[in-house]
Amino acid sequence: MSGVVVIGTQWGDEGKGKVVDLLTGEADLVVRFQGGNNAGHTLVVGGETYALHLVPSGILHKGKRSVVAPGVVVDPEVLLTEIRELKKRGVEVGPENLALSGKAHLILPYHNLLDEARENPPAVSGGDGRVRIGTTGRGIGPAYEDKASRQGLRLNDLLDLEVFRGKLESALLEKNCLLTGLYRKAPVKAEDLMAKARIWASELAPYVTDTFLLLLKAREAGKRILFEGAQGSQLDLDHGTYPYVTSSSTTSGGAATGSGVPFKELDRVLGLVKAYTTRVGEGPFPTELKDEAGDALREKGGEYGTTTGRPRRCGWLDMVVVRTARALSGVDGLAVTKLDVLRGLKELKIAVAYKTPAGRLEYLPQETRDLEGAVPEYRVFPGFSEDIGKARRLSDLPRNAREYLNAMEEEAGAPLALVSVGPERDETVILSKMFPA
Ligand code: GDP
Ligand code: IMO
Ligand code: MG
Repeated sequence: MSGVVVIGTQWGDEGKGKVVDLLTGEADLVVRFQGGNNAGHTLVVGGETYALHLVPSGILHKGKRSVVAPGVVVDPEVLLTEIRELKKRGVEVGPENLALSGKAHLILPYHNLLDEARENPPAVSGGDGRVRIGTTGRGIGPAYEDKASRQGLRLNDLLDLEVFRGKLESALLEKNCLLTGLYRKAPVKAEDLMAKARIWASELAPYVTDTFLLLLKAREAGKRILFEGAQGSQLDLDHGTYPYVTSSSTTSGGAATGSGVPFKELDRVLGLVKAYTTRVGEGPFPTELKDEAGDALREKGGEYGTTTGRPRRCGWLDMVVVRTARALSGVDGLAVTKLDVLRGLKELKIAVAYKTPAGRLEYLPQETRDLEGAVPEYRVFPGFSEDIGKARRLSDLPRNAREYLNAMEEEAGAPLALVSVGPERDETVILSKMFPA
């Protein structure tokens, strides 16, 4: 087999969906390996826009297999809605092209309730002093907690509703204590949830399979597998700006553990870099532009969340973040997106280090609080005014844009593999094939 991993190098929304859709042309299978429907991946093909949350971004290509691996957390209601919507729009989705691992854990309604309650705790629960993360409210953290504490329910459990009911009742003992006692919410009733579970079970059962065996067969047959990351490197649970992170492994290591394909078989890691920086939710963001310049980037780049519609915080490109991601994930090539959004700016800035009270930093520090008072050190470049949407070769780009890209390669320590100049699949400059020949 050959394997290519696509990951975000920043704080998510780098354009992973667009690039995975494009690269699916070269692949046989596309695998989601972590995260859940906190992800929002937007694809624009032939003027049609598709927003995907759980279904892998290869689904628009006929004859390719999409796989949701054990490392993903699945909200069955969201997944079913997504499948129905895709079918309504004429996209083929069925057990022959979409496989769900029976080992993938379920996000159930009490996870969403807990996620929301923790973000907005009633004063009476003494929650005012808590750190607010600004989660997507999709139950991601609580579902991964249950997985880690071995109280989770998995897709396989839906295949035997008596087993499902037993596990559910046991989980609710604890969840309802928290919901009613600490958070002053109504309890979740097992019966209400069982009614939904019957629908989930009948509609999703045909898709549930052993994806380990499916992927093993594909590996033995020499297939090309594309691994679709969600979120971004600085949202990684272990390596990101904790506690302002998500609850899964968003760096390339997650592709191996989440899918069950050994890291030795992952040939290449493509790091997605938006040509500027965005972040949704709370947490440090040293190059953030809190002025009109930031507002202008948000409007030009359409920087509103695909999942929650929240305005994204915007700022200059931060190569401290990208350099750290390159090192964490072993990024072999950079896929730069949204370069077109920078058109018309007089100058472009790239942060190459931070000055902090503890000294000059070229990589993110261990402690998020050590970023307080960090002042970015910028390299400044002249902007470009030409329309670059039709560029298909590097030489089609204006000199100033190429200089900006050269600086990115230099500062990241990895070469360019692709430059995206618009949301459409073909609005792309491809510099090299992704899969080894
Ligand atoms: P993901 O979560 O990493 O898949 O990224 P999102 O889909 O949340 O956000 C990226 C947004 O930028 C989407 O609306 C894409 O359609 C759009 N997009 C992707 N690449 C480009 C590009 O090169 N130029 C422009 N203008 N938009 C792009
Ligand atoms: P894609 O795949 C951007 C952020 C949330 C919050 C933090 C924790 O589209 O790039 P969570 O709901 O995961 O517990 O929230 O992580 N976050 C994302 N930000 N893009 C995403 O996904 C994100 N998924 C989670 O805003 O700050
Ligand atoms: Mg997104």
